[in-house]
Amino acid sequence: MTEGVQTPPAADAGFTPRVFSGIQPSGQLHLGNYLGALKRFADAQERGVQSIYCMVDLHAITVWQDPADLRNATRELAAGFIASGIDPEKSILFNQSQVPEHAQLAWMFNCVARLGWMNRMTQFKDKAGKNAEKASLGLYAYPALMAADILIYHATHVPVGEDQKQHVELTRDIAAKFNHDYQTDFFPMPEPVIEGAATRVMSLRDGSKKMSKSDPSDASRINMTDDADTIAAKIRKAKTDPDALPSDAKGLEGRPEARNLVNIYAALSDSTVDAVLSEFGGQQFSAFKPKLSELAVERLAPISTEMARLMQHTDEIDAILGRGAARAREIATPVIKQTYEIVGLVGS
Ligand code: TYM
Repeated sequence: MTEGVQTPPAADAGFTPRVFSGIQPSGQLHLGNYLGALKRFADAQERGVQSIYCMVDLHAITVWQDPADLRNATRELAAGFIASGIDPEKSILFNQSQVPEHAQLAWMFNCVARLGWMNRMTQFKDKAGKNAEKASLGLYAYPALMAADILIYHATHVPVGEDQKQHVELTRDIAAKFNHDYQTDFFPMPEPVIEGAATRVMSLRDGSKKMSKSDPSDASRINMTDDADTIAAKIRKAKTDPDALPSDAKGLEGRPEARNLVNIYAALSDSTVDAVLSEFGGQQFSAFKPKLSELAVERLAPISTEMARLMQHTDEIDAILGRGAARAREIATPVIKQTYEIVGLVGS
């Protein structure tokens, strides 16, 4: 766990606190994305820190995307950001491909990052599976693009779910090596911000697997577009064990499914695991699940309704993304220019 955005670490001395994070527009937005990312982005925005949020479409195409689906998913993700409380006037909201400086800086970082570092990335191993020879070069180089996403804005804090921690640590390694190789302190050392009860939301069907858009079972996740009946049915069928809920967090050890549902309840209610267990300890899942469904519907229904409404006006979404990209470029353009200068690339 790292500290919140109010306390930048010493390594960031001289850098204004700035939050950056991104989400891939591939597949359905789900409860893991909401609790691990979107909800926390809205919280960071409310704390008044300058926040930049990106639909990372260039990351999405590291695996095959149908063009029409990608277009739709990008707009739907933008709607998800806005419906979750990201105000495109307060924060900067845009899609990655519209700010070419991301790809330009990524090339610099491809030349800084070492093959040995990339070979340690567990997400590449998971995604490429046994057939790594057939994976795209983009999928392999993806963490260097992610480092560029963050560092092109000199971002100091990166709110993410636990699965992205290794990539943010690699970003720090890349920043440190660049600064060292060129004898500069140009790039900050960004901190992953991984806090709260739901930084790793698990599958509803298997408490040892992360909730994921790529899980073939739709019952494993709650999608942000699910209606109230679907949410209730998925929670009702969620895997659990036969015991009652314990009265403290220690009692969740060895009970991954129970822990997951309690974590979800705590995160949705802005509470803690201990507080949830002091309310529900001793109760059976047959009593707890309906309460969880009620809470999930209460919190998610307004978001999915607003997403559906926004998706009726995709021209407005496109205009918001266009304005966001222009604002993002105001920050990114001088950073790429200075990077070129530091590296010795001649030009205006
Ligand atoms: P992505 O698109 O897979 O996920 C977006 C965000 O949702 C979080 N998340 C979860 N959190 C809790 N429980 C889960 N089951 C769960 N599943 C997903 C992720 O941790 C992430 O915060 N590489 C990134 C996108 C990216 C990025 C960046 C993030 C590209 N550039 C720069 C931060 C900064 C990704 O694939 O996330």
